[in-house]
Amino acid sequence: MEKRNQLYEGKAKKVFATDNDGLLIVSYKDDATAFNGLKKGTIAGKGVINNKMSNLLMQMLEKKGVKTHFVKELSDRETVVKKVSILPLEVIIRNISAGSFSKRYGVEEGIVFEEPTFEFSYKNDKLGDPLLNEYHVVALKLATKDEINTIKNYAFKINELLKEFWLECGVTLVDFKLEFGRLGDGSIVLADEISPDTCRLWDSKTGEKLDKDRFRRDMGGVEDAYAEIMKRLLNHI
Ligand code: TMP
Ligand code: ASP
Repeated sequence: MEKRNQLYEGKAKKVFATDNDGLLIVSYKDDATAFNGLKKGTIAGKGVINNKMSNLLMQMLEKKGVKTHFVKELSDRETVVKKVSILPLEVIIRNISAGSFSKRYGVEEGIVFEEPTFEFSYKNDKLGDPLLNEYHVVALKLATKDEINTIKNYAFKINELLKEFWLECGVTLVDFKLEFGRLGDGSIVLADEISPDTCRLWDSKTGEKLDKDRFRRDMGGVEDAYAEIMKRLLNHI
C-alpha cells in the first residue's frame, strides 16, 4: 500500500490518502491544544504513545466485539485505518465528575457516579462544541435514531471494557471522548483515537492525573505522565 497526498491536518493528527480507496493513513503529532485551540503546545513523544496506545486498545475492543476503524500499525506514528465519514459528534462517557461536568453543574471533581453518564457535543470549533441532546442530533441530521442507539450501546460497552482494563493497570477511568464514523455500507464503527488526550486517567491509589489535564492545567510532568500510563498499559498487555 502506498501513501498519497495529505487530505487533512487536525490538531493532533494528519490524515493521508492511500492507493486503496477504502484506506487512509493517520499520522500522530506531538502537538497539543486545549480550550478549543486557544492553548497550544507540544508534548514530546505524545504522537508515538497515542498511536500505539490507541491501536492496542482498539484491538482489545475488536476482540470483544466492538467494530473499529483500525487496520494496521505502520510505524511509531502512522496507522492504516478504514476510511469513514466521521459523525460530527463528540461522545462523552463519565464515571466520575471532572472537567466541564464539574464546571457546568457546579460540583467538585471526584464524585463517583452510580451509573455512567452519556452526552453528545457538536464537533464544531466555531460554536465551541456545544452540548446536544438526542433530539438535537436528529433535528440537525447529524445521526439517525438508529445510529444514536448503536453509538450509545457501543459507548457503554466500551466504557465497561476500558474501565476493567485500566483498573487492572492500577488506573481509574474517569471519563473519555469517542468519535464514530460511517463506513461505505453505512455501518457505524469506532474511529479517531483512545489516548491520554481523550481520556481522564487517574492513578487508582494516589489519584495522580496521568493524562492531558496536566497540560490543560499547567501542572507539569506531562511527558512523564504519558510515559507512565503507556508503561502501565504495556506491563499489562
Ligand atoms: P470535558 O470534561 O472537558 O468535557 O472532557 C470530557 C472528556 O473528553 C475528557 O476525558 C477529555 C475529553 N475531551 C476530548 O477528547 N476532546 C475535547 O475537545 C474535550 C473538550 C474533551
Ligand atoms: N483538543 C481540544 C482543543 O484544543 C481540547 C481538549 O482536549 O481539551 O480544543
